[in-house]
Amino acid sequence: MAAQRGNFGSRFTAIMAMAGSAIGLGNIWRFPYMVGQNGGAAFIIVYLLSAVMLCIPIFLAESIIGKRTQLSTFGAMEKLSPGTRWKWMGFLTVFTPLIILSFYSVVGGWSIEYLFKSLGFAFTDPAVSREGHSAIFGAFITSVRKPLILHTVFLALNAVIVMAGVQKGIEKFTKITTPVLFVLVVLIMVYSLTLPGAAAGIEYMIKPDFSKLTSSAMLSAMGQSFFSLSLGVGCILTYASYLRRDENLLSTGLCTAVFDLGFAIIAGFAIMPAVFAAGIEPGAGPGLIFETLPFIFSTMGASAPMLSNIVAILFFTTILFAALTSSVSMLETGVAYLVDEKKMSRLKATSIIFVGCWILGVFCSLSFGPISDFHILGSTVFDFCDHMTSDFLMTFGSLLFVLFVGWKMDRESVYDEFTNGGTLRGNGRIFGVVYFFIRYIAPVVIVTIFVTNLIL
Ligand code: TRP
Repeated sequence: MAAQRGNFGSRFTAIMAMAGSAIGLGNIWRFPYMVGQNGGAAFIIVYLLSAVMLCIPIFLAESIIGKRTQLSTFGAMEKLSPGTRWKWMGFLTVFTPLIILSFYSVVGGWSIEYLFKSLGFAFTDPAVSREGHSAIFGAFITSVRKPLILHTVFLALNAVIVMAGVQKGIEKFTKITTPVLFVLVVLIMVYSLTLPGAAAGIEYMIKPDFSKLTSSAMLSAMGQSFFSLSLGVGCILTYASYLRRDENLLSTGLCTAVFDLGFAIIAGFAIMPAVFAAGIEPGAGPGLIFETLPFIFSTMGASAPMLSNIVAILFFTTILFAALTSSVSMLETGVAYLVDEKKMSRLKATSIIFVGCWILGVFCSLSFGPISDFHILGSTVFDFCDHMTSDFLMTFGSLLFVLFVGWKMDRESVYDEFTNGGTLRGNGRIFGVVYFFIRYIAPVVIVTIFVTNLIL
């Protein structure tokens, strides 16, 4: 079975694929605006705590299930716990990433538009004001045709990569793009930190204002940390099922988490100084980077138009690649399910999911324009999909994964998988702590934050 399903060829490529899944719009687009909406440094502290205390245990729980069974979520749960209801969790985790992919693809489309703009040297005119750039962005996302075409293009790119398969498609693509992303984002950070007025942004990133840390901000921080590491929806489980049997889950997990966190923080330091330098309200919401950065690029363009436009090209290339390496992992989660369980060809599986995500994505995209008045529980379609997935479905899915590994699987199997049959001595030594976090800490903290937020 393993040979048929395909494997990641080496530890390096496995980590690049997982880090590629983790690092995405969540880091560059979502993290900065969530920080801006939820009180800056205080949000970052909760985010970091959640990453260490919750994300790593959840990551390990998911990857233990995936690697042990070499199956995608639905089959994995059924194999480990035959005849129980746990397999229904498989459905949850097939649908959640697809809902995410639908709105993600819309933002992916935006980044294609901005990449084209930068390639056409659109950000060299210092006469366009900040409001001017916001207006351009607003006119673009509220329009109908172009965002829909680009949403389609973005989704199609994903389909092409996923159809090519795990090794020829996903692995080949992510092992090049993920390292490139790091180089690009560091270059942008250096540029941004040298802008006049950058200091206020740095201060915002490191000086906590705890008064803004409401329970909903904490839930958002936790949700954001899950979103960023692609947790709770079977994505990591599916990727872990492609790991070689002798792979060390702990080092794969830690590397992925460190890369992802590092990337989010670097992206924060690349974007917040620019936001403050441009005098933009950090709580501006999803449009934050698309409104801020073009302004920065064109103002800087006054003194060095070529340089600033090159930075713009780098930046939007980074976003697009980061988005693609993540979105393929969402698509793969659904495709793996249909291939494993329904015995479909990759081509058919990918096509079916493409259509489903495309349709939901159309509604997400139109919810900025013609159907902006249509609300589900008080939110537009786009916001509803975003918040329902990251604040609820992913949190719930993560909870179920840790409960499954901590309470349903027997301790010996978990130990066996975590230490590769006892051969990884180092892992064996810390197993007790890891198991304690999976069994007690993660579930208790997740439930506490979740319930507190429901009550308050
Ligand atoms: N982690 C990705 C990001 O930060 C997004 C992502 C990929 C994701 N796979 C996922 C989010 C699965 C939730 C579920 O952009």
